[in-house]
Amino acid sequence: MKILLTGVAGFIGSNLGEYLLEKKNEVVGIDNFDSYYQKEIKVRNLSTLKDFENFHFLEIDLRDKPSIKALLEQGFDVIIHLAGRGGVRRSILEPQQYVELNYVATLNLLEVMKETNHKKIVFASTSSVYGNKSEIPFREDRMADWPISPYSASKKACEALLYTYHHIYGFNVYALRFFTVYGRRQRPDMAIFKLIKSIIKEEVFEKYGDGKTERDYTYIDDIVDGVANAAQRVDGYEIINIGGSRTVELNRLISLAEEITGKKAIIVEKPIPEGDVIRTYADVSKANKLLNFSPKVKIEEGLQKFVEWFLKEKSR
Ligand SMILES: NC(=O)c1ccc[n+]([C@@H]2O[C@H](COP(=O)([O-])OP(=O)(O)OC[C@H]3O[C@@H](n4cnc5c(N)ncnc54)[C@H](O)[C@@H]3O)[C@@H](O)[C@H]2O)c1
Repeated sequence: MKILLTGVAGFIGSNLGEYLLEKKNEVVGIDNFDSYYQKEIKVRNLSTLKDFENFHFLEIDLRDKPSIKALLEQGFDVIIHLAGRGGVRRSILEPQQYVELNYVATLNLLEVMKETNHKKIVFASTSSVYGNKSEIPFREDRMADWPISPYSASKKACEALLYTYHHIYGFNVYALRFFTVYGRRQRPDMAIFKLIKSIIKEEVFEKYGDGKTERDYTYIDDIVDGVANAAQRVDGYEIINIGGSRTVELNRLISLAEEITGKKAIIVEKPIPEGDVIRTYADVSKANKLLNFSPKVKIEEGLQKFVEWFLKEKSR
């Protein structure tokens, strides 16, 4: 397949790109090196892809509609749209940025898809759209109308916009709700990265709350598997959870990290920040049915692999 992959220089994008290229797809990747975290990290992520002959990279911002139009005129079988700004806490400080980088950027892409007759899109949504009021485990057919941060509101708005393009123009859309993704090249602002870094460097780790919050952590290889299958099968309009389907308390994550590294964390307790949800937990039966998805990597194994990757990177 010929695939357009947005956000290719990011954590999930670079891992997915590598997988798709290994499977002999032709991948055109775009990224604007958004300043949310360091460009050098993204350039390094991309370096793993550049050796593939079937890979082409373009530095394009999705807000630049003429450039996206020129690109889509080449023609793609499917578009995997991962580009956007993550980070619940930052979104409370800079809501406008999240509307632009998530919502307006997605609108531009959809408009150009319409103009160039593209109809298949897989979109990166998030478990945080469920907020704190949805029943556990989270299911796609239950209400998720109470996002508690501008980030989750922007992703929820994208899901709605995608539905509109499905309804009016017959777009085929899979909006995948990812549950806290971790693994090699994870974003440096995320809890697992910060925890492992703080333990290894003997720095303070800020623990939010009493450690009873819970996350459904999903290993990067499971996410890649879910997205790659979605790109092959996208049909109609579906919202699909992609998660580990197991929930882990923050206190348990910390003890596991201590066991794996053989070192004690230096903890300072802080209040739970505004915008952070208390618990996430994916029901993945729909993903299983539509994508043949079942998460394979448990946190014990995934965290071990992450620590190995982190130590290797640190010694480079
Ligand atoms: N990592 C997670 O746990 C998680 C969970 C739920 C949803 N998601 C979503 O999955 C997607 C990928 O997440 P990630 O963790 O790899 O994030 P990331 O920040 O590492 O990757 C996103 C990439 O998109 C690029 N980008 C942002 N705005 C752009 C624009 N206007 N034009 C072109 N490129 C742009 C960034 O430069 C970045 O490289 C995001 O949309 C995120 O919201 C991630």
